[in-house]
Amino acid sequence: MSVFAGRFAGRAALVTGGASGLGLATAQRLAAEGASVALWDNDAAALRDAAASVGADHVETLDVADAGAVARAAAATLDALGHIDVLVCSAGITGATAPVHEFPLDSWDRVLAINLSGLFYCNRAVVPAMLARGYGRIVNVASVAGKEGNPSASAYSASKAGVIGFTKSLGKELAGKGVIANALTPATFDSPILAQLPPSQVDYMRARIPMGRLGDVAESAAMVCFMASEECSFTTAATFDTSGGRTTF
Ligand SMILES: NC(=O)c1ccc[n+]([C@@H]2O[C@H](COP(=O)([O-])OP(=O)(O)OC[C@H]3O[C@@H](n4cnc5c(N)ncnc54)[C@H](O)[C@@H]3O)[C@@H](O)[C@H]2O)c1
Repeated sequence: MSVFAGRFAGRAALVTGGASGLGLATAQRLAAEGASVALWDNDAAALRDAAASVGADHVETLDVADAGAVARAAAATLDALGHIDVLVCSAGITGATAPVHEFPLDSWDRVLAINLSGLFYCNRAVVPAMLARGYGRIVNVASVAGKEGNPSASAYSASKAGVIGFTKSLGKELAGKGVIANALTPATFDSPILAQLPPSQVDYMRARIPMGRLGDVAESAAMVCFMASEECSFTTAATFDTSGGRTTF
């Protein structure tokens, strides 16, 4: 049995983008370690399968870029779970792969709306319930692209830099109130999101990882579950790296 068995007993966790990839792997591990879990995603079919594999206690099909839908879903999730101790914001898209001077305006808007504004809406909707209980762990999934910038991925890089800055601000706001907020900066992980990119872009990103391989979603879940645990108690407003050595700052 894992030394972490029961780590999240009595805890309730909400994972956005929980139907796939990093979010799904995290939700599976949270549930395996005792959490009750709610999954939010806009892909209803994937969400059904994910809910079954996680043993989810609650699901919401919604677009996180819709602030009203996020507020309603937060209320419904709190009703269903009773409280939310852990928020993992993993919903995200890559957007177009194109240089800035050719970047489609609609893709720019959609990437910022989902990856940055949507993440803000989710944090905004859940933080009051955490503050009311004096406990919370927030993991906002950014990217190494937000630290370094990936060429031909300006909207994505800008949105993820925004997530890092947002989380630094939030972590300081909440410091001393029992609610801890940190960002995660993955390099490239083997997940369905890579299908949104041309193979040449994936090759570019893989080549920049000193370990010479893509990350496994289970490796991401291991880091996120530490960040989401009680033991992550003296680190907030920080950025955790899962990049196989790509970013060292
Ligand atoms: N996989 C990687 O290499 C990598 C690297 C760095 C950062 N990230 C970030 O990690 C997060 C998860 O990525 P992943 O690899 O698991 O991708 P994924 O595509 O496997 O999962 C993302 C999930 O988010 C959901 N989603 C997308 N738009 C949504 C919306 N508007 N509302 C609700 N749900 C929505 C998708 O349906 C999907 O289930 C993303 O924020 C991504 O930017 C991933």
